[in-house]
Amino acid sequence: LRAKYLEQIGAAHAPDTLEAVRLAALGKKGEISLMMRELGKMPAEERQSAGPALNALKNEVDAALRARKSGLEDAALDARLRSEWLDVTLPGRPRPMGTIHPVSQVMEELTAIFADMGFAVAEGPQVESDWYNFDALNIAPEHPARQEHDTFFLHRAPGDDRPPHVLRTHTSPVQIRAMQAQGAPIRVIAPGRVYRMDMDQTHAPMFHQVEGLAIDRDISMAQLKWTLEEFCRAFFEVDQVELRFRASHFPFTEPSAEVDIRCSWKDGQLKIGEGDSWMEILGSGMVHPNVLRAGGIDPDAWQGFAFGMGIDRIAMLKYGIPDLRAFFESDLRWLRNYGFSA
Ligand code: PHE
Repeated sequence: LRAKYLEQIGAAHAPDTLEAVRLAALGKKGEISLMMRELGKMPAEERQSAGPALNALKNEVDAALRARKSGLEDAALDARLRSEWLDVTLPGRPRPMGTIHPVSQVMEELTAIFADMGFAVAEGPQVESDWYNFDALNIAPEHPARQEHDTFFLHRAPGDDRPPHVLRTHTSPVQIRAMQAQGAPIRVIAPGRVYRMDMDQTHAPMFHQVEGLAIDRDISMAQLKWTLEEFCRAFFEVDQVELRFRASHFPFTEPSAEVDIRCSWKDGQLKIGEGDSWMEILGSGMVHPNVLRAGGIDPDAWQGFAFGMGIDRIAMLKYGIPDLRAFFESDLRWLRNYGFSA
């Protein structure tokens, strides 16, 4: 019996086989347990010799079972440790990580700056009806500005009677949408993509603008000037900026001004706020009464300023990026060089 159980215990390589051996020997109905129960029926003499022997057997089998059990547990732990082993001194495996595009970065920067000045963000569709893109902005059908904008028109099949649509040529249609959506007073910016048939070192067929619109009882050109100067100081992170307001013409503003920023090129380095070069960054003016009317706002009670700024342009200026077209080529080397880490 002893040999049988010790052998079975030695041969058990899994916890449940070992448990089966234990039940067979020492369980309630185990072989050894039953024998121990028989002791009581034996004559005293026999019991005296069989008792200690049986007890010794029971103890030996029990000890062997326990030893085997902890041996198996150690082995299992060993195996687990071996399979889950981790060498923390190995060099890390580099994972390819994207970067934040300069345009996205600049959009976030300018959104935060204008938010500090109380401007909320408004949005409009990139496929825009030509009423929003032109008519509502006081650009008549025969107005030359429609040609100047080199518009992408959307094709309509014969019989399609939806109003004509274009890829928006500027973010100004969002002015109208904001007026219609919220009425006066208004303080919004509208950053987004715009499209024109144009392509050279400083123009791409898709680029980005941010529209600004402030409407209230007595908004003035002076507030436009302050807002833009304040923005440029914060955005370009300089104490002093100099902006030049040049009289200009837009159908949707009166008076209108194009705005240049003073800058210099020294050893291929661009400096904002000093030097004798001027870089045009935006168009602006006082919102034309016809535009207010198109947006459902009474021009006798309200007035406002608006501006449209080239986002790619100011990104190039701030981060010294020479070629606009590279912005949209998705060249990984360019993105790694000019992109921002998250
Ligand atoms: N929409 C004009 C452009 O695309 C810019 C502008 C916006 C001018 C608002 C005046 C007021 O050039």
